[in-house]
Amino acid sequence: MWHSLGPVDSFPNNEGRECTVADRIVAVFRQENEFRAIDGICAHAGGPLAKGTLQGGIVTCPWHGWQYDITTGQHCLTPQICQQSFPCKVEDDQLWVEL
Ligand code: FES
Repeated sequence: MWHSLGPVDSFPNNEGRECTVADRIVAVFRQENEFRAIDGICAHAGGPLAKGTLQGGIVTCPWHGWQYDITTGQHCLTPQICQQSFPCKVEDDQLWVEL
């Protein structure tokens, strides 16, 4: 099901924003006109991935530094760890995410 996250312009470039969607915490990242959404709760100890630093498509958890690919949700070092990722789309300057 697609959920509206509001105006595209409300999402800062090269940063994450935490959104609550259908009782899930989702980390939404913007890189120019590309949007990615992954499970916002770090698999390590529940850190807020949306508040992590974003560099080159990799987010670093602000709590202990675990790193994830924001496109796939894949942990950068451990193949068995993968955050769920969610499709995003832009329509009429509104961002949508599918959960
Ligand atoms: S909670 Fe994210 S690295 Fe520990």
